[in-house]
Amino acid sequence: MTEFALIEISFTLNGTPQTRSVAPFALLIDFLRDDLTLKGTKRSCDVQVCGACTVLVDSLPVSSCTSLAADIDGKSVITIEGLAQSGVLSPVQQAFVDHAAMQCGFCTPGMVLATTALLESHPHPTEQEIRHYLRGNICRCTGYIKILEAVKSLV
Ligand code: FES
Ligand code: FES
Repeated sequence: MTEFALIEISFTLNGTPQTRSVAPFALLIDFLRDDLTLKGTKRSCDVQVCGACTVLVDSLPVSSCTSLAADIDGKSVITIEGLAQSGVLSPVQQAFVDHAAMQCGFCTPGMVLATTALLESHPHPTEQEIRHYLRGNICRCTGYIKILEAVKSLV
């Protein structure tokens, strides 16, 4: 059995400072889902194709299935669990609800977080820019139209 040293990392998770020890090869998705029991981050393709595992690292969307947990040291991480404040949905979450922009919901955390990042960096995107930005988030159910309507309602 190979021995390895755990790496201590300090980061902010959904606004709360944390210090944890992780294996050098631990994936961010496993760290979030298994160690921190944040199951809102979804696993699907495992190869950075579907966007279901998207989280925000320093406000940028990242595929947690292909990111190392050790790399969040010193950074701020937002998962879907961190968007609502005091039980109030974020504007993006509320827009998705209002426009019925989900069916099974499996893609929704990643879609909502990617949309959040888009609107933070670019508050008034065109429809083409929205489509382009969300191209890495795949939805099997909705046909994307409701999602597009939800995002456009926020612009
Ligand atoms: S599970 Fe990470 S991109 Fe699909
Ligand atoms: S709502 Fe089912 S995958 Fe998007």
